[in-house]
Formats: sequence, C-alpha cells, structure tokens
Amino acid sequence: MQEFIGRLHPLLVHLPIGILLLAILFEWLPIRKPFKSIRRSIRFILWIGFFSSLASGITGYLLSQSGEYDSQAVTWHQYSGIGLIFLSLTYAWSRGQKQLKPIYKLLSVVMLGLITVTGHLGGSLTHGEDYLTAGFDSAKETDLSNVNLQQAIYYNDLVKPILESKCYGCHGSSKQKGKLRLDEPQHILKGGKGGVILVAGKVDESEMINRLLLPLNDEDHMPPKEKKQLTEKEIAVLKTWITSGADFKKSVAGSGQLTELENILSSQKAVVLSDVPEKEVPPADANVVAGLHKLGVVVVPVASGSNYLSVNLINATALDSVIDLLIAVKEHLVWLKAGNQPVTDIHLTKIARLTSLTRLALEHTEITDQGVVGLKSMTTLQHFNLNYTKVTASGVMALTPLKNLQSVYLYGTNIKPEEMAELNRSFPHTHLEFGNYIVPALPTDTVEVR
Ligand code: HEC
Repeated sequence: MQEFIGRLHPLLVHLPIGILLLAILFEWLPIRKPFKSIRRSIRFILWIGFFSSLASGITGYLLSQSGEYDSQAVTWHQYSGIGLIFLSLTYAWSRGQKQLKPIYKLLSVVMLGLITVTGHLGGSLTHGEDYLTAGFDSAKETDLSNVNLQQAIYYNDLVKPILESKCYGCHGSSKQKGKLRLDEPQHILKGGKGGVILVAGKVDESEMINRLLLPLNDEDHMPPKEKKQLTEKEIAVLKTWITSGADFKKSVAGSGQLTELENILSSQKAVVLSDVPEKEVPPADANVVAGLHKLGVVVVPVASGSNYLSVNLINATALDSVIDLLIAVKEHLVWLKAGNQPVTDIHLTKIARLTSLTRLALEHTEITDQGVVGLKSMTTLQHFNLNYTKVTASGVMALTPLKNLQSVYLYGTNIKPEEMAELNRSFPHTHLEFGNYIVPALPTDTVEVR
C-alpha cells in the first residue's frame, strides 16, 4: 500500500506546480477595474496550492523509501520540495495580511524559482540526469564496429559501452531500479533485489541475459519496451563475454573469443545494406535471370528475401549479350562486379543505363576516361572501384555530379600524386582511396561458381 501511494507522486506533483503557477500569474497580471476581484482569489488558490504540495511531499517521501533512487539526488529534491511547502504556506498566510502587501511580488518570484528547481531535480530523478539534453547527443550510441578487437579489453571496450548506453539510465549512479547497479564491476557482481544476475560461464543462469531475451511485452523484459533496445550484435557480445568467464580485466584475445567476436561483429556489418533501396520491387524476370545463369553470370539476391540483385561477371562468357540482359533487369540490379573482364568504353555506354546501381566494380578492365565520363548520370552510385584502370584525374573529375558517391577506389590508376589533393577537394563528401587497402568484399565474392 505504501508503495502504491508512493507511486502516485510523479502524477500528483503536477497539481501544486499548476496551481501555484496560476497564483503567480494572477499576482503579476495587469488587471483592469472590472476584473479586480481576481486578485482576491489569489489567497484561495495559494491555500489549495499549499495543500496539494503537502500531499506531493508526503507521497514523495514514501516513494523515496523504495530505495530505487540514489540517496544524494533524492536529498536535494527533498530539501527544495520541503522549502516549497513552507514557502507556499507563508505566502498563502501573508496574502491575507494587508501590511505585508509590499512583499507579495517578492514571494511570488522566490516561489517561481523554487518550483523550477524542485521540478528539475525531480525530473532528473525520474528521467535520468541528461533527460533534458539527451536529444542533443545521439553520439552516445555504441559503435562496436570501430573497436580494435586485437587490443580490446573485453569488459571495458565492449561490454561497458553497451551497458552504459542501454542500462545506466535506470541501473546507474542516480537510479537503481530493482536495487541493481550495472555501472561498476563490484555492483554488477552484487546483483539486484532478486539476487545475483551474472553467473560466469553460464549464460542460461544469468538473469541479466535472460531478461534481454524475454518477449518484448513481458514486464520483466530489459530494457523496458519503451526504451531503446539492444541489437542482436550487442546481445551476442554480452553472451560471449559471460560464456568466456565474465572477466573484467581480460583482453578479448586473452579470453579466447577473438574469432567468435570477429564473426559476430562482421556478420552484422554485412546486414547493414544502406546501399540497397528501401522500397521493395517485384521479383526480376525469371527468364532473364536464367539467361544470365546460362552465360556463366553469378546472380544472387543482395540479401535473403530481397528481390534486389547482385551480379558477378567473374565467369561470364559473351560479355555483350550479358550486358544487354543486365539492362533488362536494371530496376533490380544494385551491385555489379565486372572487374577482371575485357570491359571497354563501349560496354560502359550500356552500363551507364543501369541506373539502380549503388556499387560498381571495374578494376583491372580496359576502360578509360572517355567511358567514365559517360557514367556521370548514374546518380545512385555509392561505391565505385576503378583500381588498375587507365583513368586519369580528369576522368574522375567528371564524376563530381554523383552526389551519392561514398567511396572511389583509384589505386594503380594514371592519377599523379600531385593531383590527389585537388581531387580530394573536389569530392568533399567522398572517400577517394589512392593507397593500399582491402576492397570491401561483396557476398558474391564467396558464392560458389558453377
Ligand atoms: C527504463 C529503465 C530501465 C532500463 C533502461 C533498464 N532497466 Fe533493468 N530494471 C528496470 C526496473 C524498473 C527493474 C525492476 C523490476 C522489478 O522490480 O522486478 C529492473 C530490473 C532489472 C533486473 C533484475 C534485478 C533484480 O535483481 O531484481 C535486471 C537483471 C535488469 N533490470 C537488467 C537490465 C539490463 C541488463 C539493462 C540494460 C540492457 C536494463 N536492465 C535496463 C528498469 C530498467
């Protein structure tokens, strides 16, 4: 019962805030003769304000006894709340004393300040300290793909950032829902009101994992459904950590999970297909796809269940016929690997009509600037591989209209070192790769070749 009454506090506090603000407003409102009587109601309003703030104070006290809140943050909120109760009482009483008239306005200003402070401290308790500003730094989102696994400390570099972004809000220094803190190793080991939450080596017995895996609608699901959920990758990272012994000091390499983690993190990367259109298309013409297969072309969906196609010409015969067929499925074709083939500028005039392409690989082909210039209408293009071709800086310059270009690979081309800076300036939003690097692999690279 006590807990129930305590939980009314977040609801109840809005009453004194509204009522007392109304009194302050009336105190300052320039009022014309016929409405003068409004002033007389201020005292009455203040009395209601006082009683409602008293009720808020009592429920607030009961709520603070639940132990879910950081005691220091609660203390300050309590002090200013008690101050507000007394101030509203004083103000209500003095509003009836004519001789105190000169200080009415002063009291109202002090009260406005105290309402603001108490409200803000209370808000920080329920919503977390950074609630007001949280909208400004989305950078807090964990980015595990940037972690250098070879050198990473498992807990510090992988586990902690996940807990920080997804759990600290309710299980951190200012709030401890379920009497649980997840912000320091000793707190994690201690567990919450239901006991231990982490059993090293045993994922099934670790409550902190079990809760993540409960159905979203289960009331014990973590984080609660209205909050930002963990990604599958993040859950996999936490599980692997527990399997490996939930050590707080070990490096990833030392935990024996290096390969496992590399797989987890990289598989996730392949699923992020930012260069596949969101709008689905009906399946491509099966006859055309069959015709391509017959010519030795590898045609696969970009992802399971997608109708968008990825094409690899690695074993293609009869290049001209192949390219004609590709045009017949141009709405579906988003990735094309045509590297290491006798592709010429003449072929490029046809390839330019593949206007859904987001990735185009033409490394080790016979193309030149002349052909490349014709590609400037391929505005969907995001990744373009021109390694080991004869293109020069002026050919690449012709691509500046392609605003979606994110990366262009230019190793082994005829671009001179002194031209690189100028090119970089002309493509402020594109990564131009002149040096030695690894070209990102397309799934078609590993496809079985028949
Ligand atoms: C929006 C607030 C919120 C967030 C965010 C949140 N939790 Fe919770 N958590 C709660 C509440 C409330 C309870 C207490 C439920 C209860 O009383 O049984 C709880 C309880 C738990 C418990 C059980 C503690 C015990 O011993 O009873 C675990 C384990 C837990 N949370 C894990 C997590 C993990 C892991 C995350 C981050 C991935 C997380 N929570 C994020 C609100 C939250």
